[in-house]
Amino acid sequence: MIIRSWLFVPGDSERKLAKGRDNPADALILDLEDSVSDDRQEIAREMTRDYLLAHTDRSKQQLWVRVNPLDTDLSLPDLAAVMPGAPDGVLLPKVYSAADVNTMANYLSALEAREGLPLGSTKIHCVATETAASLLTFHTYLDNVSDRLSAMTWGGEDLAAALGASDNRNPATGEYDDPYLMAKSLCLSTARAIDVQPVGVVYVDFRDLEGLEKDCLRDRRAGFFGKIAIHPAQSEIINRAFTPSDEEVAHAQRVIDVFEQNPGLGTVGLDGKMLDMPHLKQARNVMAVMEQIKGMQ
Ligand code: COA
Ligand code: MG
Repeated sequence: MIIRSWLFVPGDSERKLAKGRDNPADALILDLEDSVSDDRQEIAREMTRDYLLAHTDRSKQQLWVRVNPLDTDLSLPDLAAVMPGAPDGVLLPKVYSAADVNTMANYLSALEAREGLPLGSTKIHCVATETAASLLTFHTYLDNVSDRLSAMTWGGEDLAAALGASDNRNPATGEYDDPYLMAKSLCLSTARAIDVQPVGVVYVDFRDLEGLEKDCLRDRRAGFFGKIAIHPAQSEIINRAFTPSDEEVAHAQRVIDVFEQNPGLGTVGLDGKMLDMPHLKQARNVMAVMEQIKGMQ
């Protein structure tokens, strides 16, 4: 299943959990981390597990859980509490390197065995840029990372705190400062290098849907696929932005056709433009994304 929109839902909010199921988000991320206060941790774990157990048909919407980071004593109890509900995956925040992903993978193996779930069935999506060290360890993903890792996103808020910044944006332009653009680029290039989904960062100004749409299109142009949402109104915009338009599909089909009509040729012309293998690859990507989206409807 291809996931365009990932909507965060606080794991201890009955109202928001109820709203999540009717939302067009391709995946919900039931949150046990920052949106849950310490005194609500236990109840959030129970509500999240019950929610997972109550929603076993995941064909239209996957259910993921964000657990607390591995450098706290909350993450393992979070996991132990929710694994009976067989989440589709775990969002792992504040990683330092691929070693954290591999530790999480081992925990998941143990808990899948305990719950009688297929080994390897629980995927991992990591938030790869929330610690200072994480900016210097991207190479570790290239060496050896669990194949549970299916997606990678970045974040600028915790990273700002980690870097000692008072703000992460240029006040004059509203654009991210250098370290965050580097984080974004490292996330994208690493995810593509290891063939996992690079997911666009949260757009925090949740009332500005026009700004969200522009940000999605910018992400998509850069190579990201999909985006994290924090408000239910964001999912539809994200889905639309990451669904190829009719024109894009038609163009992709023409590119594929012209190569098929000219077998053996590595370069062809279409509408006065040269096309070669990268264009064919892009066209095939567009069609593959479209096939998967159709399969979900
Ligand atoms: N998931 C599901 N439902 C949500 C939701 C979410 N993330 N955010 C808001 N809603 C619901 C609200 O409960 C409200 O429904 P109701 O009137 O039946 O109660 C409706 O959508 C409209 O919400 P709205 O009034 O526009 O927003 P808000 O002021 O209540 O909430 C936030 C704003 C940011 C607090 C809220 O969107 C939120 O909790 N987002 C998730 C935050 C999070 O998980 N952060 C962690 C990752 S960074
Ligand atoms: Mg907390």
